[in-house]
Amino acid sequence: MRTRIIGTGSCLPETVVTNEDLSQIMDTSDEWISSRTGIRERRLVKEETTASLSVTAAKRAMENAGVSAQEIDLIIVGTITGDYVTPSTACEVQAALGADRAAAFDINAACSGFMFALHTADAYLKTGMYKTALILGAETLSKIMDWSDRSTCVLFGDGAGAAVVRSDEVGLLAYDQGSDGTRGMVLTCRNRKNNNPLVQNPTDFSYTQMDGQEVYKFAVTTVPKSIKKVIAQAGLTIDDIDYFALHQANIRIIQSVAKRLGVSEDKFPTSLDHCGNISAASVPILLDEINRKGLIKPGMKIVLSGFGGGLTWGSAVIEV
Ligand code: UT7
Repeated sequence: MRTRIIGTGSCLPETVVTNEDLSQIMDTSDEWISSRTGIRERRLVKEETTASLSVTAAKRAMENAGVSAQEIDLIIVGTITGDYVTPSTACEVQAALGADRAAAFDINAACSGFMFALHTADAYLKTGMYKTALILGAETLSKIMDWSDRSTCVLFGDGAGAAVVRSDEVGLLAYDQGSDGTRGMVLTCRNRKNNNPLVQNPTDFSYTQMDGQEVYKFAVTTVPKSIKKVIAQAGLTIDDIDYFALHQANIRIIQSVAKRLGVSEDKFPTSLDHCGNISAASVPILLDEINRKGLIKPGMKIVLSGFGGGLTWGSAVIEV
């Protein structure tokens, strides 16, 4: 049996912030952001939370799959921006959906979070322990941005994407995931420092810091290798793949991966122009967008690939 994605959903916050809007509050321009990254606008939260975006995305995915809350055995959310340290976002989603049969937990694999959630759900489903899982990538990254650091804050956005997966005849054909903690410090957001009667630290919260060029080099070398690996594992060739749905960090990364694989950019759908980089939520939001546009037909083979903080990466070939 294979783990099959049977429904998708997504939710973006209401408020659109364009590059032009950002250029009013910091020293940047639409020209710089769009030419260096392909991003034109992003959505940022006002009242929405990671959990509220997740719940809406989840309901849409469940409706798309025709699955009720009672059928869900497992909920996994890939996120680095849960609203609470505890409860997890997955537990908040479980409560809001009334999915009281489900076990629920979050995964921190940064931009690879949805891919790690998919692989984890697959492992559970393969044991026969669970039959139906709800997996999400959800972020409100705007709250961990330093809005005085133009090199990072302009890149990111907020949103949530979800998928319902179930054991079936077709589905996940192959996957690859990996981590390289030795390079983790190129993309960081520090948690609270030690603070107790022995060690006094003022309560301070740090913001996201990224060595963009190092992350860029990591992405354009690791992602093509990981994609080639999963395609070979699935017993397929590059030409058998209908779409490559990659983490949406930078259009230049996507173009470079397409070139290194020798594949037309037409096979790489994008959402980064209107979403920016939404870390763990990028892949499921993109998948939902192409699903709702009717671009996914039965029998198609799609490569999914996430990469980023940790450093981490995860790729999969799915048959839909
Ligand atoms: O999701 C996790 C994965 N993350 C990624 O994959 C990110 C990967 N990295 C990237 O996408 C790119 O490295 C960036 C988009 C982050 C940066 O692009 P870059 O071409 O590497 O630019 P840079 O950092 O080398 O900066 C070039 C110049 C600098 O000015 P000087 O030193 O040449 O005078 C920056 O100060 O651009 C300047 N700059 C800006 N100018 C206007 C940096 N940010 C901005 C800005 N607006 N927002």
